[in-house]
Amino acid sequence: MSPSLPPVAADRLPELVRALPKAELHMHIEGSLEPELIFALAQRNKVEIPYADVETLRHAYAFTNLQSFLDIYYAGASVLITEQDFYDMAWAYLKRAQADNVVHTEMFFDPQTHTARGVPVKTVIDGLHRACVDAGRQLGVSASLILCFLRHLSEEDAFATLEEALPHRDKFIGVGLDSSEVGHPPEKFARVFARCRELGLHLVAHAGEEGPPAYVWSALDVLKVERVDHGVQSSKDPALMQRLAEERIPLTVCPLSNLKLCVFPDLAAHNIKSLLDAGLVATINSDDPAYFGGYMNENWVQTFAATGLDARHAWQLAANSFEASFIEPPQKQAYMERLNEVYARFAAG
Ligand code: ADE
Ligand code: ZN
Repeated sequence: MSPSLPPVAADRLPELVRALPKAELHMHIEGSLEPELIFALAQRNKVEIPYADVETLRHAYAFTNLQSFLDIYYAGASVLITEQDFYDMAWAYLKRAQADNVVHTEMFFDPQTHTARGVPVKTVIDGLHRACVDAGRQLGVSASLILCFLRHLSEEDAFATLEEALPHRDKFIGVGLDSSEVGHPPEKFARVFARCRELGLHLVAHAGEEGPPAYVWSALDVLKVERVDHGVQSSKDPALMQRLAEERIPLTVCPLSNLKLCVFPDLAAHNIKSLLDAGLVATINSDDPAYFGGYMNENWVQTFAATGLDARHAWQLAANSFEASFIEPPQKQAYMERLNEVYARFAAG
């Protein structure tokens, strides 16, 4: 942490946390589908969903683990059919992100969830990408896309998805790995990640959300990822913690997700503060904000209140988010200047 950072009055901490410019690096765009939009799209596309109304659907959001969430999340995504649906979903998130002072976002999308229902990859990517372009122009939010492979499916299926997406290579910056973690270790996708690396795509993977530290090691050593999504189980392995700190491999941590999926019993027990204090490039993100009870600032404010993070941690988390992002160095520098300006305003009084 920067030793020269001046303190900020404790009663202004929530305001500071909300105001800081930040990058969001771990959010699944399908996880931003609010129940109201699910029902509106179901009606527009004449898709049946097994819930009577918005309230009944919201009540179903009581999860016991990752799989109990994924079952509902994939059902919710079934209302997405047209390019405009993907645009509308992404645009709603991007406006919400802007309100939280998210100035840059790298959004995950799950093409296989849609291609399995007969929706072409082109429809998915074109709709999402058009929203990213409009966000840059109209909201001042820079936005890019990361294509995720579903790890409960085969590597062959991932290869087929990559082939279908490659004509749109200019519209996404990297690939990731998500869905059911335990029983689907990173090495299952060694060949497809090697191919993506040859193609010059950025590489990330979910690892150490529910799965063991061994999955984080293989995400690093076999898949050669540049960032680890979640990674909170790494704290069980001191040698892994040392590796992550020394190599400045970022972790994209999602506290409200971890709370709702019972990875930690309560937010006060979350290990974000110990990750930061151990020198890791940890960041705070929303994962699936429509399902886990909060967008970016809600994650930050609740985590700060529960874990005793202070203003210097807030600066560090925002700085980490820019360091960990896949934007070019001059743009990173510009965001760091904005961060320092806002922080200085609060430190001065
Ligand atoms: N897909 C959407 N959210 C996810 C999460 N938290 N873990 C794994 N896969 C996901
Ligand atoms: Zn995730």
